Amino acid sequence: MNNNFTRKRDLSKYFLPNINRARKRLEDAKTLKDNFEIPTNLIGYGINKKFHIKTFGCQSNVRDTETMMGILEMIGYKHTDDIKEADLVLLNTCAIRDHAEQKVFADIGVLDKIKKTNPNFIFGMCGCMAQEEAVVNRILKSNFNIDFIFGTHNIHRLLNILEQVLFEKNLVVEVWSKEGDIIENLPTTRNNNIKAFVNVMYGCDKFCTYCIVPFTRGKIRSRSKQDILDEINELIRKGYKEVTLIGQNVNSYGIDLKGENYVFSNLLEDVAKTNIERVRFTTSNPWNFTKEIVDIMKKYKNIMPHIHLPIQSGDELILKKMNRPMKIQDYLDLINYIKENIPYCSITTDLIVGFPNETREQFERTLDLYNKIQFDNAFTFIYSKRDGTIAANLPDSTSMSDKKEWLLELNELVKKYAKSQNQKFVGLTLDVLVEGPSKKDQSIMSGYSPQWKVVNFKGEANPGDIVKVKIITASRFTLNGEIVK
Ligand code: 5AD
Ligand code: SF4
Repeated sequence: MNNNFTRKRDLSKYFLPNINRARKRLEDAKTLKDNFEIPTNLIGYGINKKFHIKTFGCQSNVRDTETMMGILEMIGYKHTDDIKEADLVLLNTCAIRDHAEQKVFADIGVLDKIKKTNPNFIFGMCGCMAQEEAVVNRILKSNFNIDFIFGTHNIHRLLNILEQVLFEKNLVVEVWSKEGDIIENLPTTRNNNIKAFVNVMYGCDKFCTYCIVPFTRGKIRSRSKQDILDEINELIRKGYKEVTLIGQNVNSYGIDLKGENYVFSNLLEDVAKTNIERVRFTTSNPWNFTKEIVDIMKKYKNIMPHIHLPIQSGDELILKKMNRPMKIQDYLDLINYIKENIPYCSITTDLIVGFPNETREQFERTLDLYNKIQFDNAFTFIYSKRDGTIAANLPDSTSMSDKKEWLLELNELVKKYAKSQNQKFVGLTLDVLVEGPSKKDQSIMSGYSPQWKVVNFKGEANPGDIVKVKIITASRFTLNGEIVK
């Protein structure tokens, strides 16, 4: 290793993640609305420099990346898609499964090599992996010449951290294992000028036994109704056509807003009343998904008929072990209520196979449920052990080869119903929000139907238009048709 480029390592200066602290739920969250300030040392520092942020994982990370882009652009940096021409690279990471984490470690290795040839190059890691004790310890023990690590709770301190990296020449580790606050008024650079993600809540208090998110993202914190509506009204003024309300558990929105009696169905109604063309929301959990939410969806045409409703397993004992104690019959009743009230509503889900000690019989209950509901699509995963979670201590004698086989089997069902559900739309005319030319064939336009299906079509249209498309054919991935006047 070339020590010329090694940053000083001073353990006493680090704020290291602590999984026990991250588990606690003791403090009340605060909403901080201070004006964002640039450290004087850094004013104009990024002029003629480029940055790249590689984003892994969920919509929360995508949204955080937009905030970090906004922050870096305030000191003159310009974004580049090409990692090779960047002076500064940030890995905004996901901790949900081991597979995603291994990709990040591979990237750290690559960036470390770039640094050996270019000492002025700097790179850092943030996001959910930074909140994990085991990950940060592994990096500190390695010879990787990373410049900084910070977590999900202090992205507003990006410039202060960068200042220390540049002027003190130390490796900076600043991870706050806290329950989290809500920080408003941060700069932002949106990646799209038609569709926008809007955070409605942060964190999660559900503590499903397999899941690391309640540790990495802190406790549930709902933004105030007014801050959310102000953001959406501003987006409408700028010409945005669609907002997606995001959070780990959007339908738990408001339960922490003490004494306000204002919950997700109320928020959804108020957002619909802004008259933005399209409203979506994700992710929901089935056991807080009230009939009122369905009723509001039915009442407002601008709330799109798509619900992502992760069930994870079709077996009640597994669900109990996951700390998601739901009766399958209640889930089926909810799905029926949705289908009765919102025709052509698409329903998607998440499923985990191979939870510790899962049996073939239990896995088959997931297949049975899938056959009953015939989801429009599903994200399917093999269970991944996460340090610090309750499930990580459960005995597991189910073999990995069984788990892999089950995943393939489940995916066959997913494919089958993705196709048959799409075929239901053949002959119908759908409103499509146009994104632009299709990636595969530039002579064809592409966009999304209300049900969140990709629609490829022939005909003249511009990005941001909402056009009527008659569906002629359907595959597992897309609906295909032509514009009708
Ligand atoms: N292993 C596998 N899948 C997981 N998910 C969350 N944690 C794990 C884990 N430890 C999946 C769940 C969740 C989705 C976002 O990721 O299905 O709904
Ligand atoms: Fe994880 Fe469960 Fe919270 Fe979803 S609801 S983020 S799966 S703990």
